[in-house]
Amino acid sequence: MKKYHIETYGCQANEHDSEIMAGILQEMGYENAKKAEEADIVLFNTCCVREKAENKVLSGVGELKSLRTKRPGVIIGIAGCMTQQNNMPRHILHRAPHVNLIFGTHNIQDLPRLINNILEKKETPQVKVLPDSQEITEGLPTCRQFPYKALVHITYGCNNYCSYCIVPYVRGREKSREPQNILQEISFLAKDGVKEIMLLGQNVNSYGKDLKTPFDFADLLEKVHEIEGIERIRYMTSHPRDFSDKLIDSIKILPRVCRHFHLPVQSGSDKILKLMNRGYTRGYYLNLIDKIKHNFPQASITTDIIVGFPGEEENDFAQTLSLVEEVGFDSAFTFKYSPRSGTPAARITEQVDEAIKKDRLQILMDVQNRISLNNNLLLEGKNMSVLVEGPSKTSGQIFSGRTDTNKTVLFEGRQELIGDLITVRIQKAQTWILKGEVI
Ligand code: SAH
Ligand code: SF4
Ligand code: F3S
Repeated sequence: MKKYHIETYGCQANEHDSEIMAGILQEMGYENAKKAEEADIVLFNTCCVREKAENKVLSGVGELKSLRTKRPGVIIGIAGCMTQQNNMPRHILHRAPHVNLIFGTHNIQDLPRLINNILEKKETPQVKVLPDSQEITEGLPTCRQFPYKALVHITYGCNNYCSYCIVPYVRGREKSREPQNILQEISFLAKDGVKEIMLLGQNVNSYGKDLKTPFDFADLLEKVHEIEGIERIRYMTSHPRDFSDKLIDSIKILPRVCRHFHLPVQSGSDKILKLMNRGYTRGYYLNLIDKIKHNFPQASITTDIIVGFPGEEENDFAQTLSLVEEVGFDSAFTFKYSPRSGTPAARITEQVDEAIKKDRLQILMDVQNRISLNNNLLLEGKNMSVLVEGPSKTSGQIFSGRTDTNKTVLFEGRQELIGDLITVRIQKAQTWILKGEVI
């Protein structure tokens, strides 16, 4: 049997695209190979949100050169966001001539045809990268990573144009899937044993703005909540600017919507937020957090933060630190600003020194780690509902799972518990994990 191997570099949207590529390949008769060396087709599903992600891809692709020599018939393909950048397909083929397939984020459905062109017609390389697509292709097969939880696209693309971000350029304009398609997919997943779903979009709160019949994200949550068998509903990512009171009121009466609010703040300085084109102020953000804390006292709140955005001065960074202290995030993804060619921020002349960015990142991470640990310590002795994921990486007897608030919990478990919702009493809290015993 022919085999495929996919390496995924990006966010959850990228991960889900990989699941779709895997689904297509399985329908074509391929089976999964753990290692690239064993595969007849190797796909890199790339990310270009920061330079580091791109470099990782390029070095990974470089390593496959010897595979081409050893197995001349192998298909080596590059997919995902990186391919959507101007001139990138040409650049990739120049740098890595052993690559013989490139397809973009709007061309996943073309995969069978592209592969056939290589195998049957012997036409290489195959390159298919559309700048954007008006249409959403429905009904593509998916090969899920987990039997009990699933990712579901609700929007594609992004219209926000935050000044640092490449995503709108590589993913295209925002498009919402029709509610009936989403609901049908989730009903099907529920029948297949899925208990937790993650609704995916670059800005889920703007879901539905482009639909002919009025239907927004709160309406969607309500409908998904009615689907029997779905016990947990997550979503990623929500933009603070669009997190409306209506949405808060809806979530309040929908207990299966997880009490986890991931609200990327990016900076605590009004000056920087404006330069970032985020569309909210520090005061607005803190007010939103107050509303969430008031309505959902048990909720966890997490964020994304960029340090060293062009023009960020000591005082701006101090504002970010003070916001982090004031909110008391449960955790934060923290990044050094990475200039992305083609975005407005990359053209600002006042770029921050790499050494300063590095220092600020370390200071921020130290502050956040202390806060994460303090928040977690408050959970010691508490009973929490945990969806069991599987054995932990370090020991076969120790299992891991997640709370509704998206915290990772380790406990002594059994294979039969995988996919179950169980109660765990938290005994020991650490910065990134909780340890406990099954009740
Ligand atoms: N749509 C989501 C996620 C976008 S990418 C959102 O709006 O939150 C995930 C995170 O990457 C962003 O939240 C941001 O913190 C970070 N990021 C995006 N572009 C970046 C850049 N050029 N440099 C550093 N971090 C960046
Ligand atoms: Fe990028 Fe902003 Fe869109 Fe998120 S909302 S994907 S950060 S442009
Ligand atoms: Fe990266 Fe594309 Fe996601 S650039 S973060 S994989 S949308």
